[in-house]
Amino acid sequence: MEVKQSPTSSTDYDTIAERYAAEIDVRPWNALYERPTTMALLPDVAGRDVLDAGCGAGWYSEQLAGRGARVIAIDRSARRVAITKKRLAGRMRVIEADVTDLREVFADMFFDVILCSLVLHYITDLTAAFSECARVLRREGVLVFSTHHPFDAEGFDAKPRGRDGYLHAEVIEEEWEWLGTMRYWRRPLRDITEPLNHAGFSIERVCEPDPAEALRIADPKGYARLERVPAFLFVRARKTRWD
Ligand SMILES: C[S@@+](CC[C@H](N)C(=O)[O-])C[C@H]1O[C@@H](n2cnc3c(N)ncnc32)[C@H](O)[C@@H]1O
Repeated sequence: MEVKQSPTSSTDYDTIAERYAAEIDVRPWNALYERPTTMALLPDVAGRDVLDAGCGAGWYSEQLAGRGARVIAIDRSARRVAITKKRLAGRMRVIEADVTDLREVFADMFFDVILCSLVLHYITDLTAAFSECARVLRREGVLVFSTHHPFDAEGFDAKPRGRDGYLHAEVIEEEWEWLGTMRYWRRPLRDITEPLNHAGFSIERVCEPDPAEALRIADPKGYARLERVPAFLFVRARKTRWD
């Protein structure tokens, strides 16, 4: 798999941290599409050790704690860590860390469940990310993630995609009216599933949800787009191989 320079240098999550935190919990695509689907893929987390990997503004960490999990939240952005710490007010550890290298942070087999929502498309080296997830998960541990769909609904209708063809990963750069310039990977499915498998995971569920009726009311244009092309890919995988 071709791995280019990290595309994340201009998706500056420190700079956009406050704007993101102010809006993310009420944005229809997140509140009515991404979050319900991701939450539905989680196993019972009560009494389990759960990592929120790439916690952003901390919504998932809060939900997981509300379901009785022992949660640790990490994010690569110092500003986002600060925002999540404030939100959660001492209820859990929130650590500045990179999911592609957690060796200094967590011992092997520390967690039962990892949740990684809308993070992987900002990461160049998915082999490293999935390998670290496998390392810190216990045997039969579960990884739930959402990521931009290979067909990339956000820009699918607006711009030509896949200049070198669907099978070639590429960095997309676009202007989001609420956040500014964003850069992320659009990848074919195999560039997600192969490193996942290589790290020792077996896929249990893959979801491409229909948009909910509530989204049609809250965001008719977004609903229409999601009826044509999914925005995100949702996966539950289990660590089934280890040395
Ligand atoms: C779109 S936000 C998603 C936040 C949260 N999971 C949610 O769904 O609301 C992406 C987050 O991933 C974080 N991130 C990106 N690359 C990361 C990495 N390698 N390790 C840890 N966090 C990362 C960013 O700082 C940002 O907070």
